[in-house]
Amino acid sequence: MSKDFYEVVDTRRTIRDFQSEPIDDEVIERIISAGMKAPTNDHMRDWHFIVIKDKHIVLKLVKRIPEQISTEEVHEILRDWNLNDACQQNAYIEAIPKQYQMLTQAACVIIPLLKQKTDVLHPENLSHLNGFASIWCCIENMLLATTAEGYSSALRIPLGEEGDWARKVLNFPENYLMPCFIAIGKASTNAPFIKQKEYSITERIHKEVW
Ligand SMILES: Cc1cc2nc3c(=O)[nH]c(=O)nc-3n(C[C@H](O)[C@H](O)[C@H](O)COP(=O)(O)O)c2cc1C
Repeated sequence: MSKDFYEVVDTRRTIRDFQSEPIDDEVIERIISAGMKAPTNDHMRDWHFIVIKDKHIVLKLVKRIPEQISTEEVHEILRDWNLNDACQQNAYIEAIPKQYQMLTQAACVIIPLLKQKTDVLHPENLSHLNGFASIWCCIENMLLATTAEGYSSALRIPLGEEGDWARKVLNFPENYLMPCFIAIGKASTNAPFIKQKEYSITERIHKEVW
C-alpha cells in the first residue's frame, strides 16, 4: 500500500467497468478491517460482510436488477427525477445502464450488513438513524481502502424487492439490513471517470457563522 491519504481520497472514483482479474482474500480482509475501524454510534460495530466471488451466486443475486436499459428509458428516468444539471445528468447517463454489468463484472461483490435496532425507514428522531449512518462511515473506509489497494469500486442501493431477494439468496438474518451492494475489482483500462462537479471550497466554508 503506497498511496498517501490525500492521494487515496483524490483517486477514489466510482468505476463501473471492471477487468476479469481476481482479488485475493487477504486484500478483501484488509478492506473489511479498514471498514471495521470506522466510527460507530454505539461502540458495537454489529456489522457483517458477505463476500461473493462465485459468479453463479452473483448472477442469482442480481436477478432483480434490469440487465439492459435503453437510452430512451434513461432519459425518461432523468425527466421523472427532474434532473437538469448537465454534470449530474451525465453521471446518471453513465451509471444507470451499468448497474447490472458493474456487479457481474466485479471480482467480488460485498454485501455489508448492519443489525437493525431501530426502524430506519420510520425513524422517530435523528439518533434512530445512527446505526445506518455508522455503516456508511464503514462503507467509506472500505472504498478508500479499496483505492489504497489499487482496486476500484461501485455502489448500488437495493431498489424495490432487491434487498428481500438478496436476503433470500444469501440467507442473512431478518434483523440485519443491507444498505448497499459494493462491487470491487480492477478498473478496465478504458473505464471512464465521471467528472466530479467542482466547487469553490472557500465558498462552502463559513467561518464562525454562515
Ligand atoms: C449513498 C450513495 C448511493 C449511491 N447509489 C448508487 C447506485 O445505486 N448506483 C450507482 O451506480 N452508484 C451509486 N452511488 C455512487 C455515486 O453515483 C457516485 O459516488 C457519484 O456519481 C460520484 O462519483 P464518484 O464516486 O466517482 O465521485 C452511490 C453513492 C452513494 C454515496
